[in-house]
Amino acid sequence: LSAVESIPADWYTRPEILALEHERVFGQHWQYVGDASLVAEPNSYMTGRLGAMPIVVTRDDAGVLRGMVNVCRHRGAVVVDGCGSRKTLQCRYHGWTYRLDGTLHRATQMSAPEGVRLPQISVTAVGNLLFACAAPDAPDLEVVLGQFLEQTRDVAGVDIQRLELRQSIDHEIQANWKAVVENFVECYHCPLIHSVTLPGYGGEGYDVEIQETTQTQHMESDRFNFLFLFPNTQVSVYGNSSALIARALVPVDEKRTLLTLDYWFHSDVSAEVEKELVEWFETVVGEDLPLCESVQSGVSSGGFERGYLHPEQEAGPWHFQRLLSAALTD
Ligand code: FES
Ligand SMILES: [Fe+2]
Repeated sequence: LSAVESIPADWYTRPEILALEHERVFGQHWQYVGDASLVAEPNSYMTGRLGAMPIVVTRDDAGVLRGMVNVCRHRGAVVVDGCGSRKTLQCRYHGWTYRLDGTLHRATQMSAPEGVRLPQISVTAVGNLLFACAAPDAPDLEVVLGQFLEQTRDVAGVDIQRLELRQSIDHEIQANWKAVVENFVECYHCPLIHSVTLPGYGGEGYDVEIQETTQTQHMESDRFNFLFLFPNTQVSVYGNSSALIARALVPVDEKRTLLTLDYWFHSDVSAEVEKELVEWFETVVGEDLPLCESVQSGVSSGGFERGYLHPEQEAGPWHFQRLLSAALTD
């Protein structure tokens, strides 16, 4: 099998590439954001990020769910943090207030131009997994995730509607977000790195399927199913523990990435099963992260221009790099 050329090493190190990615990649696609049960009740809000963009998701008193850019129209401060129960959102800087539909309620001691409001973005909850997209023409998420949702039900036997978020664990990784994405969308390294934690992964019966902006990977014998949603959302489903692990890989800067692992379980899963699954997955991730950091030091070293991918074993990174290149070089 002949190798495929990978993207250039300096795409992992140049701040101007990350700036372009924020505009053309993170600003354009659906991303996992967090737990929609935080906005289950009327008059509630929660916050999150789409790449660099702070967002706020609200449920108004009529029960309508909305997403907005969480940046004040006055001078650009972040309006609200965390989550809570409120009828209006007050910016902490000079106190401008917004209604839960994003329209301006009051500008402190002045009048703002007509129509000033927090810009709207698209939000969708799949069960209680919350996704957001800042593109004006966001595609229907349930359609985008169709194959993954089917396999989650049929291969893993997990019912997304019955999941609840039990734990969130943060990791700050000293690597560009793309090095982290790529690590988690190939199992070429699995036999060498995860021989004990993931026996059989990456071999016979491990299937990778590429769709337009998604990939699914599954292994029936382990009731395992995986989603990669371009650019940075990854979801692993482990049917044997009725568990789903969701995360968006958020760039901190061009050489650091925040990985928050959200551990969801069927509501009847015991604390013991939960603990075992979390400890095991944290061990797997602990095997991966030093390798992502090693790639970052290599691509930053001046001694590497670009590499080569295995066209089948690394169909995942190859697909990711094709979508990324198309977005950056158009
Ligand atoms: S920046 Fe929000 S009120 Fe001034
Ligand atoms: Fe790995």
